[in-house]
Amino acid sequence: MTLWGGRFSDGPADAVFALSRSVHFDWRLAPYDLRSSLAHLAVLEASGLLTIEVAGQIRKGLNELISEVTSGSFQANATDEDVHSALERGLTEKLGPIGGSLRAGRSRNDQVTTDLRLYAIDHMLAVAGSIIEIQKALIAKANEYSDAPAPGFTHMQHAQPVIFGHEIAKHAHAFSRDLDRISDWLVRTSVSPLGSGALAGSSLPLSPERTAKDLGFISSAANSIDAVSDRDYVAEALFILALVGSHLSRIGEEWCIWATTEFGWAKVADSYSTGSSIMPQKKNPDMAELARGKAGRLVGNLTSLLTTLKGLPFAYNRDLQEDKEPLFDSFDTVLLVLPAVTGMIATTEFDREKMASAAPLGFSLATEIADFLVRAHVPFADAHEAAGKCVALCESTGRQLHELTDSEFAAINPNLSPAVRDVLTVQGALQSRTTIGGTSPKSFADQMKNLSAAVAADSKQFADKSAAFSSMMGA
Ligand code: ARG
Repeated sequence: MTLWGGRFSDGPADAVFALSRSVHFDWRLAPYDLRSSLAHLAVLEASGLLTIEVAGQIRKGLNELISEVTSGSFQANATDEDVHSALERGLTEKLGPIGGSLRAGRSRNDQVTTDLRLYAIDHMLAVAGSIIEIQKALIAKANEYSDAPAPGFTHMQHAQPVIFGHEIAKHAHAFSRDLDRISDWLVRTSVSPLGSGALAGSSLPLSPERTAKDLGFISSAANSIDAVSDRDYVAEALFILALVGSHLSRIGEEWCIWATTEFGWAKVADSYSTGSSIMPQKKNPDMAELARGKAGRLVGNLTSLLTTLKGLPFAYNRDLQEDKEPLFDSFDTVLLVLPAVTGMIATTEFDREKMASAAPLGFSLATEIADFLVRAHVPFADAHEAAGKCVALCESTGRQLHELTDSEFAAINPNLSPAVRDVLTVQGALQSRTTIGGTSPKSFADQMKNLSAAVAADSKQFADKSAAFSSMMGA
């Protein structure tokens, strides 16, 4: 069924219908379309455009459709173009011609973007909930390894020793920023386009502020032309999801490295690994690899929408139908990957001894020598030079830094007294990194306290928002 036959002498050609059709993917919007129809109905009724009796019948029909869509007993059929036409068909089949009343003062142009905003908010809240779960898993794992020294890397080379929990916890901070972005996005997305009509607003006595409030939006659109063409909220959502994907991908990459035979740090649980069809000994960290791989499609979805939007004239153009599949796919992908990576993190065990014995390798304590000299008021450039000479001497004679003799130290720099050996231990290096955010046990404990408090606050904030959204949908 089309919604626009009146001025046409013929129906669309098969190829036209096939290209136009979106119901096979936009059917997901059905619950949100029905909910926004209830809000639109309320203003048509309040303005007297629909009698209380007719409005009552339509409300009953919409509520029945909500249950039928939920149970699957009402579905789109082969002749429906999109979710809006399918649901109008459903209403008309129940009620006869009055089923077409809701089109008064509303266009698919304001309708589709209202539905999509509601869909996006609902699913972004689910993403936030899933992010909080992965943060909790990261915090638990970080606390488990709060006393485990490990080498820290830059350029994939041993740099300075760190507490391994510090290394794990860093990912939770990245996810906190994602949650901040989601909070900001929710505010900008909470604008109702309903009432904008095709583009110019409506001559009927609608109340966009009232429908906005009914649907839980903060405000109604300030410019009706912008409202029907704005897909910034989709682009921003795709960016947020691509960045979450990138954070998951970086976890994936680290897990892959840590699980290699060469590193041998991570023992990924059997239930989060897969085997090989030919090599019986293989245990592969496929979840980590998929997390890395899926980031590619998330970035692709963002690029796809930005390319669609670039150069698109205002107001509505059919190109905008291309906004949905990337968004749906990105939500599906992130909501699939997050729980799998959460489980992988929670069930991975790390080899403390291997990490501890690797911590001092690669002259990772050389900075301690430089800092020792700085404390003796040697300019850092000279201190750096002296520490470098110690490393060179060790390399050419096959020794570790603490194995240099007193006279060798003194010859390199007279301020290198035997006391320098006190700082040439992993524990000493860890203890000394006392700056905020640093790797000393005290700094790390403070960070974890703050991080846990932030996650608890986010957990409450997003649970409240999800409850409010569910109650709006159920109203
Ligand atoms: N299926 C369309 C979309 O997703 C709905 C809006 C159609 N509007 C129109 N004027 N043809 O964008």
